[in-house]
Amino acid sequence: MAKRKLQRFTEIGTFKNVKQLDEGKPFKGKWAKDLFANDNPIVLELACGKGEYSVNLAKKFPDKNFIGIDYKGNRLWVGAKQAIDENVENVGFLRIQIQQILEYFEVGEIDEIWLTFPDPQAQSPLERKRLTNPDFLNKYKTVLKPDGIINLKTDNDGFYNYTLEKIRELKLTILQQTNNVYRDFYSDEILSIKTHYEKIYLQKEKNINYVKFKLNG
Ligand SMILES: C[S@@+](CC[C@H](N)C(=O)[O-])C[C@H]1O[C@@H](n2cnc3c(N)ncnc32)[C@H](O)[C@@H]1O
Repeated sequence: MAKRKLQRFTEIGTFKNVKQLDEGKPFKGKWAKDLFANDNPIVLELACGKGEYSVNLAKKFPDKNFIGIDYKGNRLWVGAKQAIDENVENVGFLRIQIQQILEYFEVGEIDEIWLTFPDPQAQSPLERKRLTNPDFLNKYKTVLKPDGIINLKTDNDGFYNYTLEKIRELKLTILQQTNNVYRDFYSDEILSIKTHYEKIYLQKEKNINYVKFKLNG
């Protein structure tokens, strides 16, 4: 492993705003109280990478708590370090596989979910890994409050269309959608938060897709 990656792995274990694997399990049902010492709503960013949405939303919405989830510790390190350096206390990070989300969050514990540029897993045998397949959507439905919302931002048109197809099949409610965020919502202060991967796609002049939907039809 590269030296910097190794250093980050060691350091992230000392960060109070990061929980890794089993360390996160005792927080199930108690994240707001035990990690953030409040009872504010919780927003998850799944596949958060360096956690740009988690950190930036936390700064904009001090009355909400944000938890970025990814299995790559060296990426989570970036967001966690920024939050520590800038004293952003309403954001935390959890290093787990998203498949395991039900082991970490109680029924109805979450208010909103962001999925930011998840890997598209385009080849059909990998549909089971797609983070908007019906199995994942069911898990999100369990941890979300009844009116909970999911936001997906993706550069990948195939993944976007796959998700719209599942939304239609499952008769879910779309609240907002566009296949070009920077044409249709260019002045939106939330949608214009840019992640690491998003900046790369924008440099390549790729359109950015966005859909906001509810899981309870
Ligand atoms: C293309 S990157 C996007 C990262 C970040 N959201 C961004 O836009 O810069 C996809 C991320 O999803 C994470 N990921 C993919 N599948 C995952 C899973 N099942 N559980 C946890 N993390 C996952 C990867 O580790 C990676 O950091």
